Amino acid sequence: MNEIWQHLQERAAAQGEREIRDLFEDGNRARDFSASIGDLHFDYAKTNIDNDTRAALLQLFEAADVAGRRNAMFSGAAINRTEGRAVLHTALRNLDGGPVEVDGKDVMPQVKATLARMRDFAKKIRESEITDVVNIGIGGSDLGPAMAVAALAPYHDGPRCHFVSNVDGAHIADTLRGLDAKKTLVIVASKTFTTIETMSNALTARAWMRDHGGDPSRQFAALSTAEDKTAAFGIASEQVFGFEDWVGGRYSVWGPIGLSLMIAIGPKGFDAFLRGAQEMDRHFRAAEPVENLPVMLALVGIWHNQICGHATRAVLPYDQRLALLPAYLQQLEMESNGKRVQIDGTDLERDSGPVVWGAAGTNGQHAFYQLIHQGTRVIPCEFLVAARGHEEELAHQHLLLLANCLAQSKALMLGRSLEQARELMAAKGLKGSALEEAAAHRVFPGNRPSTTLIYPRLDPFTLGQIIALYEHRVFVEGVILNINSFDQWGVELGKELATSLQPVLEGTEGTEGQDGSTAALVAYIARHRG
Ligand code: F6P
Repeated sequence: MNEIWQHLQERAAAQGEREIRDLFEDGNRARDFSASIGDLHFDYAKTNIDNDTRAALLQLFEAADVAGRRNAMFSGAAINRTEGRAVLHTALRNLDGGPVEVDGKDVMPQVKATLARMRDFAKKIRESEITDVVNIGIGGSDLGPAMAVAALAPYHDGPRCHFVSNVDGAHIADTLRGLDAKKTLVIVASKTFTTIETMSNALTARAWMRDHGGDPSRQFAALSTAEDKTAAFGIASEQVFGFEDWVGGRYSVWGPIGLSLMIAIGPKGFDAFLRGAQEMDRHFRAAEPVENLPVMLALVGIWHNQICGHATRAVLPYDQRLALLPAYLQQLEMESNGKRVQIDGTDLERDSGPVVWGAAGTNGQHAFYQLIHQGTRVIPCEFLVAARGHEEELAHQHLLLLANCLAQSKALMLGRSLEQARELMAAKGLKGSALEEAAAHRVFPGNRPSTTLIYPRLDPFTLGQIIALYEHRVFVEGVILNINSFDQWGVELGKELATSLQPVLEGTEGTEGQDGSTAALVAYIARHRG
């Protein structure tokens, strides 16, 4: 495997003067450097990956035995080694697939029974007097449903959905203000049912409901793996939707954690969402690596990050309703592959997964694209866009959106040379040193890589495909880097220290033993807390 990495490193170094645009001398490049599943199309032609580089990347896929690890995941093996768990979020969307066994027991009857209960509950709520649903959760118990509910706004025909995650009281206070406690359903979403942010907000919501004439015994539901804790909180078992520990938090939108989405778009829409994901699962398991979207998305990612050394990747949905996608992917990718050791605990041999960031286009164009085009670092960009919007009467605006999206990837690749900049300035009448100075500011280096994921329209099925695509991309990258993508020990230390700092902030413990900076901040807070 080391020789393949070495070879790829040499290929990156040997690119020299060859530019991405030069690769288009091969007239078939757009066809050959793209992959599709149905109408979902991934174009990676505007990267500096050529045939030889791709062949070497595909060798990485083989050498890491991604196919073997993929089969182990789908078959219910305990691939999450540090937690001794299977990884089976795919079972949640295995709507018409075969049995899936964990420790010799088929989990599908339970998955289907819970889904049937969710459907009944969602129908009941949609037909009731409930006007608003508040999902209280954080991380994977918030980002997935919040992102998907926003993405599928045109399909909403149920109650309004709100999401509260932050322990900052401002979040729940602003959300509950204006809601009718008698017509609100509160969903407490927490895999563990111990997360301090969620439990604090749940208690606040329960007190609010009681104080304002609502009935928490009827108007609270829970989504969790910890049914003893949901019972202790006082939520009736028929309003509790359980799942197993083989569903990771950031992979959990497909099951009970997706209840708010199901209530918003209805059980049929939710089924379409699951079917889209199921189709991606089938594709991931069956398609040849070079035609396999998750595999190619991952290999392009590895090329840019671990080989070319581009430490960040911008996710740029030209789709306002996907504005939360970068935040969702931050958890999915950075919590999964932000690790410093390999599965066996030895040091990682290369960089961990990239920093993922971004915002919806065209807004980002008027904010941070300056740096993407002319900054000194290269930032691979990942564009997403629908050929068609939902607002038929605003089709002209959608065309403008598309034009901007295509223009950005083109500008990144082609750039503007000093010569072209000089011509532009000369045409404006500038001469001599004034011309040179003005031209220098107008040069775009170009040769900056991007990919585009394009789809007909953002409907529930397509969203399911896209999310499952990213999940499997993370998996492939994790296998190639030999990372356990399914634990998250890196979030523990901060949680522990927050707990130990609480009595210090309350003043029941002193600041002895704290570092000087923390002690000074505690003193500042004490002076200003009132
Ligand atoms: O802090 C990280 C984390 O454990 C995430 O992995 C998870 O999605 C989130 O907290 C919320 O956890 P829970 O669903 O158990 O409340």
